[in-house]
Amino acid sequence: MNIAVIGTGYVGLVSGVCYAELGNRVYCVDKDPAKVETLRAGGIPIYEPGLGDLSIRNAEAGRLSFTTDISEAIIEAELVIIAVGTPPLPGGEADMRYIEAAAREIGDAMNGYKVVCVKSTVPVGTNERVKAIIASRYTGAFDIASLPEFLREGTAVQDTMNPDRIIIGADSVQASDLLTELHRPLTEQIIVTDIRSAEMIKYASNAFLATKISFINEIANICEKVGADVTEVAKGMGLDKRIGASFLKAGIGYGGSCFPKDTKALIQIAGNVEYDFKLLKSVVEVNQMQRYSVIDKLYQSLGSLSGKQIAIWGLAFKPETDDVREAPALEIIERIIELGARPKVYDPIAMENFRSMYDHPAIEWCTTAMEAVQDSHALCLLTEWKEFTEASLQEIEAALAEPVLIDGRNVFDMAQVRDSGLAYYPVGRPVQYIERQYV
Ligand code: UDX
Repeated sequence: MNIAVIGTGYVGLVSGVCYAELGNRVYCVDKDPAKVETLRAGGIPIYEPGLGDLSIRNAEAGRLSFTTDISEAIIEAELVIIAVGTPPLPGGEADMRYIEAAAREIGDAMNGYKVVCVKSTVPVGTNERVKAIIASRYTGAFDIASLPEFLREGTAVQDTMNPDRIIIGADSVQASDLLTELHRPLTEQIIVTDIRSAEMIKYASNAFLATKISFINEIANICEKVGADVTEVAKGMGLDKRIGASFLKAGIGYGGSCFPKDTKALIQIAGNVEYDFKLLKSVVEVNQMQRYSVIDKLYQSLGSLSGKQIAIWGLAFKPETDDVREAPALEIIERIIELGARPKVYDPIAMENFRSMYDHPAIEWCTTAMEAVQDSHALCLLTEWKEFTEASLQEIEAALAEPVLIDGRNVFDMAQVRDSGLAYYPVGRPVQYIERQYV
């Protein structure tokens, strides 16, 4: 199949490369000439395990090309996939500017029947808007479809090649047949539905996963007060097939480019039709508060933060990505600085991205994990990178000025911690205090 993908962000690039890997001929389009140059040279503008090799292999095989020119990309395409960004507007609503611009350009470049589908996460009704925009510029036949994307950063290639399900929202047999044929090699689990339901499935899925996270985080907060262990509680709950074990890891709240944006957008979508989505509003609020549990624990362990040096391990919103969008680390570090402490920060991949988003003279940027820990009054683990989960607790204890470890991701087990000499503050599990007066 001949496919054009508009937008080479996470969704567009990963999808384009994976469709090429399935044997299709794919043209990826981006407005940014520098990005297209990088891609043509075999580079990848994002950090995503496995994507670079796959991109080079398919480009070399002549199945994958990159261009800034929509008309060049779609001239032979049977399928045009819109995968441009929908960043949040100040009120939480998704910004449709790039989707609409892409629709206009596609409309101008249409040269025959094609299926145009939207992979970006868009409010219900957007596909119809895209259809109207194209129809206002092109009078020939075409169909539209919604094709929501569920890939996770860090495992994007694997998720795309082994999806739990494919959702196709279509109002024509041609469109649903074409998209079914394209995805058949990936899974048997293909759901064909109407366009509006497909658009809603994406928001509802992300909102539900975010709800699971906020739920378990609140259970963790209660566990801390009643002396229970949230990891045991989550294990016990997760074995119930109706609940499921995934997304029940308590921590410092969700971040990233999807959950924060999509939950707020769904609240807005509901608000626009005068529905007060109270449950989801609480999910967002709980997520915000959860970040500050790290600060509470710093207070509990150190008393005042003024003049203290605090090691931060992890800036990315999760491991295996350099993405720092809505990363809990941002607000935690800002607050630490406001309270008069000096953060010493380290992340294996995301330092540069973080620094370009937030820099402050009080921050010390470290080149190794142990450099951050050296002489600090506490270590806060904010992202569960393997490098951190495999660290030696004895070494950490020896390097810290005060032996305080705040584990925002519950990566260490209690038996390990018991002999380390560290005061250990996990999430929703018993705190290990040590007999010592802090200065
Ligand atoms: C998410 C969805 O999983 C994906 O289907 C959608 O297409 C895009 O949004 P992503 O943002 O890449 O993917 O990451 P994900 O692995 O889902 O994690 C999101 C956030 O939730 C991270 O900050 C993670 O640390 C947090 N999380 C996840 C928890 O705190 N606990 C969990 O149990 C799971």
